[in-house]
Amino acid sequence: IPSVSDELLQAIRTIPDYPKPGILFRDITTLLGNARAFRRAVDALVQPWAGSKVEQIAGIEARGFILGGAVAHQLSAGFVPIRKKGKLPWQTVSVAYSLEYGLDEIEMHSDAINPGDKVIVVDDLIATGGTAEAACKLLRGQGAEIVAACFIVDLPDLGGRQRLEAMGVPVRTLLSFP
Ligand code: PRP
Ligand code: HPA
Repeated sequence: IPSVSDELLQAIRTIPDYPKPGILFRDITTLLGNARAFRRAVDALVQPWAGSKVEQIAGIEARGFILGGAVAHQLSAGFVPIRKKGKLPWQTVSVAYSLEYGLDEIEMHSDAINPGDKVIVVDDLIATGGTAEAACKLLRGQGAEIVAACFIVDLPDLGGRQRLEAMGVPVRTLLSFP
C-alpha cells in the first residue's frame, strides 16, 4: 500500500535545468491537478491542527496562496497573503531577505494580524528557508504567535528546516527530495 508521501511524491513532476542549468525543479502543478493528491496533501498538512484554534493562515506567494486557501478553509481560519513587494494596496510592513543572487522583499498588510493571533505559515516547498524565515519575522513583528510552518516539499540539503527551527518555528513537511 503506497503511503501518503509516496503518493504525493509520484504526483510531483521534476523538470531538469529549470529555471537555470543544474536545477531540478519540483513542479507541484501536477499534484494540484490530481484531485486525490491535492485533497490528500491538504488533509495531511492540516492534520496536526484539526479542531484546534488557529486564527490565520499566512500563505506565501504564489503557490502558498493555493494551498493556504484550502488549509484556511479546513481549519476555519482567516487567510493572510504574504506578497512580493509592491503588490498590496493598503499599508504594509516588509522584510528584506537574500536570494541566491541579491535581495528581495516580502510584504503583508500592517492590519492583517491581531497581536496574539495563532498563525500557520503555508508554502509549497522549503529550500534555503529564506522566504519562510522572512515571512515568520514579518508575522512576529506584528505580534503573531507562529504555531508552525508547513510545506509539501522539503529540500533537506538546503537547510531550510534547521533555519526555521533555530528561530523556534516548528516545521511540518510531507515529503523530501534528497
Ligand atoms: C519558491 C517556493 C518558495 C521559495 C522557497 O518560490 O514556492 O516560496 O521559492 O525557496 P527558499 O526556501 O530558498 O526561500 P519562488 O521564489 O519560485 O516564487 P513564486 O512562487 O512566486 O514563483
Ligand atoms: N520547485 C519550486 N520552487 C523552488 C524549487 C523547486 O524545485 N527550488 C527552489 N524553489
